[in-house]
Amino acid sequence: MAPRKIIIDTDPGQDDAFAILFALGSPAEIEVVGITTVGGNVPLPLTSKNALKVVELAGRPDVPVYAGCPGPMVKTLMTAEYVHGKTGLDGADLPEPVTPLQSEHGVNYLVRAIMDAPEGELTVCTLGPMTNLAMAMTMEPRIIPRLREVVLMGGGFFEGGNATPAAEFNIFVDPHAAHKVFDSGVPLTMAGIDCTYTAMMTLEWLDRLRATGSRAAIEAANLADFYRQYGSHKFGTPGRPIHDACVTGYLLAPKIYEKRQCAVTVEIVSPETIGMTVVDWWHVTGRRKNCNVLRRIEPAPFFELMLQRISALP
Ligand code: BDR
Ligand code: CA
Repeated sequence: MAPRKIIIDTDPGQDDAFAILFALGSPAEIEVVGITTVGGNVPLPLTSKNALKVVELAGRPDVPVYAGCPGPMVKTLMTAEYVHGKTGLDGADLPEPVTPLQSEHGVNYLVRAIMDAPEGELTVCTLGPMTNLAMAMTMEPRIIPRLREVVLMGGGFFEGGNATPAAEFNIFVDPHAAHKVFDSGVPLTMAGIDCTYTAMMTLEWLDRLRATGSRAAIEAANLADFYRQYGSHKFGTPGRPIHDACVTGYLLAPKIYEKRQCAVTVEIVSPETIGMTVVDWWHVTGRRKNCNVLRRIEPAPFFELMLQRISALP
């Protein structure tokens, strides 16, 4: 089978870096045709530079990176240096990228790439606030039925939120964008924090990753060493979820995920719950089931696969 063609929309972020390396280490199954960046974990100039650093680390400077929107559609940008550090990729000392950013805007690229690809071919994976995709859908609604699927890291329901008691960070930063995408009719798969919290990276796994000896694996382990420090108050173990990597894991091994097709809406009105993904798990509303909600991952095969694929990079 030909590899699945994806565009990764991202705000790196250590866990975004894992997701990208995991995908680039899996060329038989996944072809990353382009990367678009968005302001999120850190401001756009940093997320764009970080995306270039990660493709260079993977030995894939040929993957084009396009800078998209610097901030959300309506709200003011909220960043997460408290999780990811000042650079967004704290923990690894990656060289300044030599590859330039593409000159085309990320939103224009999304529209062009999706319109030019055969219908049903492209998947967009969003690993940050969904601003770029929502803007592209606003600019050119004909892209919506042309997409194979949108697979996103964001949201949650049963675990509560990590940005507010009700909302997960990616959706909270740009709830209006998420609302637009969830309402669009595009086939959606959501790896929310209910799902990502079920796959905790352990220190033993990190040691094994580092011991594989590839540069990509060693730098990924360095990134994880910084990233795992945040959240000890919550998890009570040295292990942490690597949220965005769960999107790549799903593309590669959907069978190790428990899931259910549900009606999901994004709250954009209430000040207390703005950014909440409201999952109709029991289908009490009778609304159209617009989203494949991932609920649990089998951690062992997930981490084995990620180790294998990242360590296959140079
Ligand atoms: C999400 O927010 C960011 O901090 C991570 O990169 C991930 O995409 C987790 O809530
Ligand atoms: Ca992210």
